[in-house]
Amino acid sequence: METILSAKHLDRSYTIGKTSLDVLKQVSMDIHEGETVSIMGESGSGKSTLLHVLGGLDNPKVGQVHFRGQDIYRMSALRRARFRAENVGFVFQSFHLLPELDIVENVALPAMAKRGSNRRTAKARARELLDEVGLAERIGHRPQELSGGEQQRVAIARALMNDPDIIFADEPTGNLDSKTGCKVLHYLFQLVGARRHTLVLVTHSGEVALRCSRQLYLKDGVLQNQG
Ligand SMILES: Nc1ncnc2c1ncn2[C@@H]1O[C@H](COP(=O)(O)OP(=O)(O)O)[C@@H](O)[C@H]1O
Ligand SMILES: [Mg+2]
Repeated sequence: METILSAKHLDRSYTIGKTSLDVLKQVSMDIHEGETVSIMGESGSGKSTLLHVLGGLDNPKVGQVHFRGQDIYRMSALRRARFRAENVGFVFQSFHLLPELDIVENVALPAMAKRGSNRRTAKARARELLDEVGLAERIGHRPQELSGGEQQRVAIARALMNDPDIIFADEPTGNLDSKTGCKVLHYLFQLVGARRHTLVLVTHSGEVALRCSRQLYLKDGVLQNQG
């Protein structure tokens, strides 16, 4: 299997006043094309930090992240932003939808940022994706008119908008009750599976982790049980 993302010896620390908190310690991992990887670990173990570093949102102090052989932290900030827009999809715990836009516009937004994008084509694709997450009937609505679970399904559609090579989901059901969370995950796994996207999913649920093809565990910033 082709390696899509390769992290080598990542260290990341936060400095607060005079104290420094080491959050990631020598984290190395390879993510292969089409696999789904779960990351579990206690609160504060560094899962979100790791996802941000892997996804090009946060510079590591030490180490490299290669995406298809390219060192993403040696790119200029502008190029890295373009890399993220074109290749990476993010789903966060809170949905981060823009309240002034309807849900089609929210989903289409990542395409609008791309050079040479066509507004009408982007909106047509956004409608298709919303249909795939079961929200065809809600087209034209604004995020605040939707339930939390529905808003997260919009966020999933948005993450898939640019057909990214890799999707990072950071506790996507953390703000939802378990039944709603189940439904959201159903759509996430369905869309990712149908397109053979690569997925890295942070979860607190062992059951959800087992739905992924590989399970990783982060303990105090150290990656356990690799393989
Ligand atoms: N911007 C920040 N400044 C200072 N400390 C931070 C910052 N972000 C996270 N941390 C600390 O880093 C540690 C790991 O955080 P995080 O990656 O969010 O863990 P997790 O997602 O596993 O709960 C925690 O102790 C957290 O308080
Ligand atoms: Mg977190």
